[in-house]
Amino acid sequence: MGQIRLLPDVVASQVAAGEVVERPASVVKELVENSLDAGSRKIDIVIRRGGISLVRVIDDGCGMDRDDALLSLERHATSKIHSAADLQAVATLGFRGEALPSIASVSRFRLTTREPRAIAGTEIIVNGGKIEVVRDGGEAPGTQVEVRSLFYNLPARRKFLRSENTESRNIEHQLHLQAIGHSEIGFSLMRDDRMLFRLPGAVTLSDRIRDLYGAQLLKRLVEVSDAASPKTRISGFIGQAGLSRQTRSQQLVFVNGRAIESSLLTGAIREGYHTALMKGQYPVTFLFLELDPAAVDVNVHPAKREVRFRDSNSVREAIVRCIQQTLETARAGWQEKFRAPFRPPAAVAGKPAPDLTLRSEVSAPEELDRELPRLAPTVAGAGDPSQTPVPEIVGQAPRLPECRFDSAGDAPALQREEGAVKAPQQQFEIIGVLSRLYVLMENADGLVLVDQHAAHERILFEELRRRMEEQGVPAQKLLLPQTFEVPPRDADWIERNLSILQRMGIGIESFGPDTFKIDSLPSFLSVPDAAQFMRKVIDDLKSAGNSASAMRLGEEMIAKSVCRHAVKANDPLRYPEVEKLIRDLLDCDLPYCCPHGRPTMIQISLAELEKKFGRKI
Ligand SMILES: Nc1ncnc2c1ncn2[C@@H]1O[C@H](COP(=O)(O)OP(=O)(O)OP(=O)(O)O)[C@@H](O)[C@H]1O
Ligand SMILES: [Mg+2]
Repeated sequence: MGQIRLLPDVVASQVAAGEVVERPASVVKELVENSLDAGSRKIDIVIRRGGISLVRVIDDGCGMDRDDALLSLERHATSKIHSAADLQAVATLGFRGEALPSIASVSRFRLTTREPRAIAGTEIIVNGGKIEVVRDGGEAPGTQVEVRSLFYNLPARRKFLRSENTESRNIEHQLHLQAIGHSEIGFSLMRDDRMLFRLPGAVTLSDRIRDLYGAQLLKRLVEVSDAASPKTRISGFIGQAGLSRQTRSQQLVFVNGRAIESSLLTGAIREGYHTALMKGQYPVTFLFLELDPAAVDVNVHPAKREVRFRDSNSVREAIVRCIQQTLETARAGWQEKFRAPFRPPAAVAGKPAPDLTLRSEVSAPEELDRELPRLAPTVAGAGDPSQTPVPEIVGQAPRLPECRFDSAGDAPALQREEGAVKAPQQQFEIIGVLSRLYVLMENADGLVLVDQHAAHERILFEELRRRMEEQGVPAQKLLLPQTFEVPPRDADWIERNLSILQRMGIGIESFGPDTFKIDSLPSFLSVPDAAQFMRKVIDDLKSAGNSASAMRLGEEMIAKSVCRHAVKANDPLRYPEVEKLIRDLLDCDLPYCCPHGRPTMIQISLAELEKKFGRKI
């Protein structure tokens, strides 16, 4: 009896601070969110020693009068919601009335604030949660919060902080999120007396991305085409297929203006990219979702980093669809670069340009056919263009395998009919093959490098997918049917998807409780262990979520198998084969990456070359 006591307010705040203030970056996040909620146009941030010694946030927002300023330091004091009903549809970044008292309880804290039309402002100094000074003060209209010596009164928490560098980087990342999320607001960050960035306000999202991450990245982004889902409006930019990162640091997603971490959303993005993303890599996204605030519960995470969706399936599907559509639309722009008429090197002031290109070096002098670069006629077969190997920059070209899909025997070769190849318009010119792998080409923009193996994988992948759609999948009987057992949950999944699996050329049927029998597999597959293969397929598809459809299953299997059939590095190709490879690639739905998400081609623009050679600064 008599054991339970109410905690003093300061202690309660310190307990709350345990959740709200993890590290200096959380202080920055909370203060900047307050400034945004206060309608600021410009927010300046100063940090010292990773924010541990100082975080200062200055805004030009609405400010507070003295009573409000004092109240803002009380726990559960907020101007943003008034009733439980308001919590159902929060439209501001803050709503709990926790941040300021929590921060003030674990630091030396100073708040100065002035409303725009007030004659004087207020200054409040708090140490470890105790208000020490309240007086007139505050210079410009707006609010300035200074947080010094974070966790000075909680040495145990302080020990958990990382190096100053790491803490600074966390703060920078936090500010990148805020700055991308609010391109209408000006931001600056000063770190240990060095200005790290100063971003003008009232700019577009693309300007903001360029200001923060550079023009090179912006060039590789595609504006999202809204999938026109009435409930989830999506806008922003995503990386074109083939662009990826080793970490999630550039995978930014905002829900109603709030930067969010969500496995649901990252899963949907990954699914949208599907074969356009390398395994283990992360896409680059600057995605903005706008939903009715009532459809999102923001009150689920102590640092407000996560949200819960009322209808998570429809959000997920909207994202998947939107990413797929955007990537496919982006193809048109890419192809344009190769459809643009190829212009010969410009003549200099009256004189014809000296033709000193590699093409003229490697062409036989008497050859006037400018479309077919070739080696000197000492190479066998030089008289016949179709037998002429592409000039190799490294190594020699012996015999060339055909670009055909050759499987266990009876799968039809994948080479398209000859008639399908249109008379070539001069959109690009093949210069040669580097290291028996990279095709070098020139197009209107400059130099293009194509990975012949990745390119061929993409072509085979799409060709097979097309066949699968049109004709279904040819199956091949196994010599010995195999039975295998799976856990009950997987058995359920198989039962539900049995007809899809069968349509995919997998002869599978129930064979007792939690046991199945397979007697055929798609003929383009050659797998040593059918049961093991099936387990892997089931795992992959289950993790892909609800959109596991016949197509998705088929794509998964095809992506797995094409690699073994595509021309390899070191497989030297003849000129017509290379040319056909490039044309087929350009006809693909997603020409710029292989089915495993690796890039198939890299463009190096003339402008980049000029910069590298110091012709242009
Ligand atoms: N920079 C600011 N300019 C104007 N008013 C502010 C500012 N910072 C805080 N306030 C006022 O102080 C109140 C308390 O801020 P605090 O951050 O503690 O809570 P909150 O933002 O309401 O909710 P949360 O704890 O979710 O952040 C706010 O509701 C707001 O009215
Ligand atoms: Mg707040």
